[in-house]
Amino acid sequence: MYNTLFDRFGIDAVYVALDVHPDDADQVVDAIRVLDLVGVNLTVPFKERIMPHLDRHTVAAQEAGSVNVVTAVDGTLTGYNTDGEGFIRSLAEEGGPDIPGLSVVVLGAGGAARAVASTLIDRGAGQIQMLNRTQARAEAAAAALPGDIIVGPLTPERFAVAAAGAQLVVNCTSGPAAASILALDPTVLADGASWVDINYWMPDPPLQAACVAAGVRFHDGLGMLAHQGALAFELFTGHPVTGGEIRQTLAEARS
Ligand code: ATR
Repeated sequence: MYNTLFDRFGIDAVYVALDVHPDDADQVVDAIRVLDLVGVNLTVPFKERIMPHLDRHTVAAQEAGSVNVVTAVDGTLTGYNTDGEGFIRSLAEEGGPDIPGLSVVVLGAGGAARAVASTLIDRGAGQIQMLNRTQARAEAAAAALPGDIIVGPLTPERFAVAAAGAQLVVNCTSGPAAASILALDPTVLADGASWVDINYWMPDPPLQAACVAAGVRFHDGLGMLAHQGALAFELFTGHPVTGGEIRQTLAEARS
């Protein structure tokens, strides 16, 4: 999507995927400096591992405990996390619920879950509950976040209690968790609730059909992908771009 936008805006740049072995994570910053890159996006496990090597990072990145964007300006490497803001913008664009006072259940406790939870707290969400397979990881995430987050195990029984009357569920677990997600019952959610699954690459995200059948509004992860990408594109190039323009680019690439 970035290369299409580079072409469209006449920007002399290219975006490439680099396959880096996780054992070499600590040298990624050296590569950025030596190759004189304008910036990079990072995915698991690099988004957490790179943090101690950066010159600075934003409060959002600090709270999320991970960065998905690094820019290099005059030799200074800055880490950003655009996932949370991208999530909020896409939810608003898709007519999702207003955040202030919202009762939310976040599934997962990795970088994406922390980014989403911290941004929801910043925007005034009411109660946030975080359910994760490894409860200790959820406890560590909650301790690093500014609000009072209730944590619990990712089990159908706990979900039934946590999600009763909730207005928003955000599935931030990764692909291998699909079977655990499928075991959850979305009918316990409040009337008019929304369910977001951030795994934009899944053609058939778990529980989509069950949510629709239960009257729960289902949002796939493409909106978040587009909006976090729009924010990153502006950080890389200084060129503003809307989430809608990125969505259009994605749709064109798929057709
Ligand atoms: P990201 O940075 O994209 O959030 P991550 O840090 O790898 O990615 O987090 C993946 C999330 O999916 C975690 O919450 C993980 O649970 P654990 O903390 O217990 O590892 C969750 N997850 C991955 N595979 C899972 C599975 N098979 N069942 C349940 N949860 C799973």
